[in-house]
Amino acid sequence: MACFIVFEGGDGSGKSTQARSLLRRLRRRGIKAMRTHEPGGTLLGQSLRNLLKSGEPMTPISELMLFEAARAQLVQQVIKPFLDQGGVVIADRFTSSTVAYQGYGRGLDRELIERLNREATGGLEPDLTVLLDLPVETALARKGGKQADTFDDAPVDFHRKIRRGYSALAASDPEGWLILDGQRPQEELSREIWSKVQTIL
Ligand code: TYD
Repeated sequence: MACFIVFEGGDGSGKSTQARSLLRRLRRRGIKAMRTHEPGGTLLGQSLRNLLKSGEPMTPISELMLFEAARAQLVQQVIKPFLDQGGVVIADRFTSSTVAYQGYGRGLDRELIERLNREATGGLEPDLTVLLDLPVETALARKGGKQADTFDDAPVDFHRKIRRGYSALAASDPEGWLILDGQRPQEELSREIWSKVQTIL
């Protein structure tokens, strides 16, 4: 039954809502499941999250390494043990976030990122990645008024690069990704994600 499902998308794409909804569906059926969120999920991850959000100036490479350090800890301490016990892990962001944000967004070397992703995860890959795709303007407008995130103040063009990055990643592995229009009603998206997850379980 062990299964690893990742939600990806730009800021304001509705990942967290869908991740929580999937978690509820699984638990209602008595399936052992947990949800985690990057960066975070461990004491180290939480400290790095605070640091990343503090506004402290950081070079792109420092930023990359902090995300990877948080991920290495999360995989070893939380994700792998839960999967080893046969549970379903739902992750709000994983390795593709780094390819999209630090690779496509910041312009860091893609091979370096892939190498660090492999090292940090020990090669663990999702059974399914759900991409919630929607126009950048719509996503940012949704975020309006909420607490600023790490990249909320970045220029719209930065967010466009990220969206393009996600589309390229998903297109290169159609089997592994479920691409959904994030503008559709939440309940409809939740049902579609659930039927896909059932085929995997
Ligand atoms: P968060 O508040 O968790 O945003 P969201 O709810 O959209 O996930 O902030 C996380 C931010 O960190 C988000 O802007 C994406 C960014 N990020 C990266 O740049 N690289 C990464 O590897 C990860 C995991 C997140």
